[in-house]
Amino acid sequence: MLDMRRTGGGVGAELRGVDVRHLDAAGFAALHAAWVAHGVLLLRAQTLDDAALIGFSRRFGALDLAPVQETGRRFVPGYPELYVVSNVVENGAPIGSLGAGEAVWHTDMSYLPAPPMASLLYALEVPPSGGDTWFCDMHAALDRLPAALRARAAGHSVKHDGTYNSGGYVRQGVTPTDDPRQSPGAVHPLICRHPDSLRPMLYLGRRRNAYVVGLPLEESEALLDALWAGIDAPEISYRHRWQVGDLVLWDNRSTMHRRDAFDAASRRVMHRTQVKGAAPPAAA
Ligand SMILES: [Fe+2]
Repeated sequence: MLDMRRTGGGVGAELRGVDVRHLDAAGFAALHAAWVAHGVLLLRAQTLDDAALIGFSRRFGALDLAPVQETGRRFVPGYPELYVVSNVVENGAPIGSLGAGEAVWHTDMSYLPAPPMASLLYALEVPPSGGDTWFCDMHAALDRLPAALRARAAGHSVKHDGTYNSGGYVRQGVTPTDDPRQSPGAVHPLICRHPDSLRPMLYLGRRRNAYVVGLPLEESEALLDALWAGIDAPEISYRHRWQVGDLVLWDNRSTMHRRDAFDAASRRVMHRTQVKGAAPPAAA
């Protein structure tokens, strides 16, 4: 039996007394079921080196290679699956991505045809304050839509922008554009079905440069604005205040996340892995 309690807010659960380095098959199956059921799992006081983080991540499935960092480099020699989220600058070069600014609501890498199903983020250094990560439940976001708005959204697909990352930085190899109709990115159904739980969910990805395929731009913007207006609700979200040793893994299909800014003079270092996923299917 896992010692599990809700994290508070509308999404997420904390598992206590688990060292993910030493989890047997039954324990992992229970953890996996909790991850699908709650969208976000928190495990505190883990002691993971990079190999152990990758090893645990692989129990969910094959891993994606990390996207290229903002500087154009991959940063962790020997571990191409690791993405470094950090504001730390060493020898004049950032060791990771996303700086110290705010990161807006998003799903990781939904600009790809097959976005990752899970992201795992492990805290190595955290600032004394700020840098909290917020999660929201996209099943609940769909459930809360007024019926007329849900009907407007039904059957549409959205192009998920691949121009900017969540910190507003232009991705490597992309020529920036701010015309949502022209920007590169994969198209996914606006209302999807979770492949494991089969529950319907809203799949928004990120707001900037998103485009509802086939609509005049003004109508696309109006529909997206109306859908996004329901996201910032405490009833469907969880605010995570990081401690060193926290491992947080989220279902990258049924949740979105964002990050508060923090003092650029303090240090925040996190290592992230991502589990390969498939294109999210449209809800029936
Ligand atoms: Fe992210």
